[in-house]
Order: sequence, then structure tokens, then C-alpha cells
Amino acid sequence: MAKTVTKAVFPVAGLGTRFLPATKVLPKEMLPVVDKPLIQYAVEEAMEAGIDEMVMVTAPGKSALEDHFSPAVELESFLEARGKTEALASIRDDFPHPKKISFARQGDPLGLGHAVWCARDFIGNEPFAVLLPDDLIQATPGCLSQMMDAYQGTGGNVVAVEEVAADLTSRYGILDVTEDDGRLARAKGLVEKPSPDDAPSRLAIIGRYILQPEVFEHLDKKVTGAGGEIQLTDALAATLEGTPFHGLRIDGRRFDCGSKMGFVEANSAFAAERSDLHGGG
Ligand code: UTP
Repeated sequence: MAKTVTKAVFPVAGLGTRFLPATKVLPKEMLPVVDKPLIQYAVEEAMEAGIDEMVMVTAPGKSALEDHFSPAVELESFLEARGKTEALASIRDDFPHPKKISFARQGDPLGLGHAVWCARDFIGNEPFAVLLPDDLIQATPGCLSQMMDAYQGTGGNVVAVEEVAADLTSRYGILDVTEDDGRLARAKGLVEKPSPDDAPSRLAIIGRYILQPEVFEHLDKKVTGAGGEIQLTDALAATLEGTPFHGLRIDGRRFDCGSKMGFVEANSAFAAERSDLHGGG
């Protein structure tokens, strides 16, 4: 049986340049979809999947993320005194309280692989999950829970994948598939951001990973790849010989909230699910 995953890394140190000027001061991961910041959706998804220790890899100027997960004692007292029970519940009883949240720093945004590497001391020699909060996934059960189920059968590395249009492969890590049952695809190769002509498939990695700690051995080498960044996909490609690698097509809908259109669509889709908003509230 695959070793249980109890820790997750949230790489949140990127600059969010596609969302300027909103992200000049506000971290991209604090942008709200309806009334909840992206990072909170990701933390709730991780908790639902059984994760109780979380590490956020942040950058200078992103202290709002840390503040969001700290108690707001004065605000709570204010809401309590005014009898605003629903608002109070949203920041206290209904708020996610993982057993442990730690913060690591990525000094310079050298790439996703480097951000994950910055969390190595918190993870140690255990399998772990990685969640990119700007990929918001509407799914029941949650995306990471679906992956945990698949991982019980496959072990190794498991990522969430989505079939993308041929002209979009250059934005993603793409799987070179060896077996595929229509839901789970096993990869024999991985390519980061290939042009449509070089892409071995259209199966793209989206922002959810269950990884074995061996990936740190490759990230330690700090090899740069596409865009001059230290790419997580390249480090995972280097583990393929010793570790099975599967992509799981998720039963759900993904919104790329790092892009303006994806963010707008997410707001509309999540609002549509909210019974309290149907009266125009
Ligand atoms: P993105 O490339 O989407 O994020 O990285 P970005 O760089 O913040 O956004 P743009 O392209 O400038 O608008 C995907 C995820 O990886 C994290 C980001 O915070 C985001 O969650 N990341 C990326 C890091 O933590 N460190 C990095 O060096 C790069």
C-alpha cells in the first residue's frame, strides 16, 4: 500500500504579473472568488483529502497570506459584540484550521521547482502533495481527494491532468503517455512547455501533485529549463525510471485563476452554486 500523504506544499511566491495592477500589493492567491481567497479554497481541498501539515512558500511582500491564517482577535470580538454570527463563523468556526501551517521563504522567483525545493526541510523523507492555488478546481469529492484514491492503487507520483487544445501545450508540462485507460494515464516521459509540434500528447499537468521525496534529489541540482526557470516537471522527468508516474483526469472543472478570463469564469461558476446569492444578495 502506498505511504499515506499528510503534508502539502503551497508554492505562493510567484509575482502574479498577469494580474497587475491588482497584484501590485495584494498577493494573487488572496484574490477572492465570490468571497473567499484562492488560497483558502486550496487549503480546504487539502484538508478534505486528509492533509494536516501545510507549508506555504511565500515571498517578500506576501505577508497577507500569513495574516489570513492567523486569528483576528479584535475582529472576532467586534463581530461577537454586534451579534454578527454568520460573519463570525466565517472567520472562526467555519474557517479551516489545519493542525500545522508553516511558512518558508523563496528569496527570488526562480521557478516552481525551486519553490517546492524551498519546502524540503518541512517535508523530509515523505510523500507530499503540491497545490497551486491559482488552479481552482470545482469538484466533489475535491481534486486532491480523487488523486489520493488513485494514488492508493498506483503509488509513485500522481498529477492531475487535463486534455488541452493543441495550441496551448506550450503553457504546460505535457505527458508522453505509455498506457492510458481513459482516466489514468501512465507517462514514460514529460516535457515542459513544448510547442504544439514537439508535444508528445495534449495531456497537460494542472496544479495538483502527489510526489515522492526523491524529487528533491533532482531539485537539489538547480538545473534551469524552459524560460530559464527551475522547473518541477524537469525534476519529475528525471525520476521516471525509478518511480511510476501517472496523470489522473479529474472529475470536475478547473479554472486557471492566474489568467483574467479563468478568474472571471470561476467567479461566475462558484456564484452559481451558492444558494445565498440567487436572490441577488
Ligand atoms: P505562475 O507562473 O502561474 O505564477 O506559477 P506567477 O509567476 O505568480 O504568475 P504570472 O505568470 O507572473 O502572472 C504557478 C504557481 O507557482 C508559484 C506561483 O505563486 C503560482 O502559485 N511560483 C512560481 C512560485 O511560488 N515561485 C516561482 O518562482 C514561480
